[in-house]
Amino acid sequence: MAVSIFTAAFADEHRSRFRENARPSALLDVWTFLQRHFGSGFLGAYDQERLVGYALFVCSLGSVQRKATVTGEIFKWALRALVGRYDFQVSALARVVRNKVYFFCGAQRFRTHGDAQLLNVAVDPAAQGRGIAKVLVRAGLEAMSRQGVPEVRLEVRPWNTAAVKVYERTGWREVGRTRDLDGEWVVMTVTPSLLSP
Ligand SMILES: CC(C)(COP(=O)(O)OP(=O)(O)OC[C@H]1O[C@@H](n2cnc3c(N)ncnc32)[C@H](O)[C@@H]1OP(=O)(O)O)[C@@H](O)C(=O)NCCC(=O)NCCS
Repeated sequence: MAVSIFTAAFADEHRSRFRENARPSALLDVWTFLQRHFGSGFLGAYDQERLVGYALFVCSLGSVQRKATVTGEIFKWALRALVGRYDFQVSALARVVRNKVYFFCGAQRFRTHGDAQLLNVAVDPAAQGRGIAKVLVRAGLEAMSRQGVPEVRLEVRPWNTAAVKVYERTGWREVGRTRDLDGEWVVMTVTPSLLSP
């Protein structure tokens, strides 16, 4: 269900990277792994028992990378991508990989404490504009604060005005900019313990 929200909310991005009618296998693999090992950061918003949005926080990006390496998952994903199991458009695959490398190389930039990250937030297009993203992000930050996480970081495209607004409204501040092959990212951070409940 969260995967179908992702594909609807990021429809343009999805179309540019995956073949038509692609199976969402890549997301399912990565999110199943995250849920199994880092499930406390996976938050869902429900409307009459139907999932309408999610946010995905991790307390430490480094531990995700280490876990993916020691369990061998990262190699499994790479192999599946290479043999075409993820339905990536061949022309987009190299770009996706290079952008991920930029992401991981820049992951420590502009940080002052730790390596917690807000990886993704999305709301079903039919449920957008009702404050759901703000509630999800605030709930995630409260959970981070309870776990003693000193600072959380995220990147957002400067032209994603809806997302930038959500983050500004939930206490995040821009600390710098970085870029990859598709353009600029705004880097934002927040100190969860300083936010009022
Ligand atoms: C970004 C997203 C999660 C926002 O979800 P949402 O539930 O509609 O957001 P909210 O209703 O909580 O809105 C929060 C604020 O953003 C504003 N906002 C929402 N959509 C907006 C838009 N398209 N343009 C400008 N502001 C917008 C709201 O007015 C609100 O501001 P307010 O506090 O002044 O009222 C949603 O648009 C989405 O899923 N986008 C695609 C996925 C994505 O880009 N995720 C972020 C990746 S970094």
